[in-house]
Amino acid sequence: MSYLILKWAHIVAVILFCSGMLVTPWLVNALCTGPRTESQQDFLESVRGYHRMVTSPALLFLWGLGLAMAQSAQWWSHPWFRAKLVVALLLSAQHGAVSGRLRHLCHEPQRVYPPLRFPWFALGLSIVAGLVVVKPGL
Ligand code: HEM
Repeated sequence: MSYLILKWAHIVAVILFCSGMLVTPWLVNALCTGPRTESQQDFLESVRGYHRMVTSPALLFLWGLGLAMAQSAQWWSHPWFRAKLVVALLLSAQHGAVSGRLRHLCHEPQRVYPPLRFPWFALGLSIVAGLVVVKPGL
């Protein structure tokens, strides 16, 4: 498959993943600090449905496509790529934290959490985009 087609699909997956990861913690934060009513639980279930059907598969796709591009262009030893991998791993870990929290909140209406600090995700996303476009140190 052509490199540009891989990149196109990678960017689409990145958009779907990042948009979900920027909005979902915001919605979860609004409901996670106290026990929830039945309709609030239904809303959380719906947010979790989107997370499972769109955001999580997009993460899998962006990794698969990113690895395919790295292999095709042999980016492995480039400093920008290694730094990008580290930040992408942190963003993926953040996804894991959101998934776990959504699962617990949906299963236990009485469970409460302190709000998630979602600005970290926006910061990581900006760093990744900068690394891949500027390619410092190539
Ligand atoms: C949330 C995490 C990620 C974000 C936000 C992201 C973002 C982007 C963006 C915006 C581009 C297009 C840059 C351009 O204009 O050429 C890109 C390209 C690329 N990404 Fe990702 N990416 C992420 C994760 C990954 C992962 C996990 C990998 C590898 C395992 C990866 C490998 C690549 C490669 C190899 C390119 C092509 C670089 C080039 O040809 O110049 N990305 N990424």
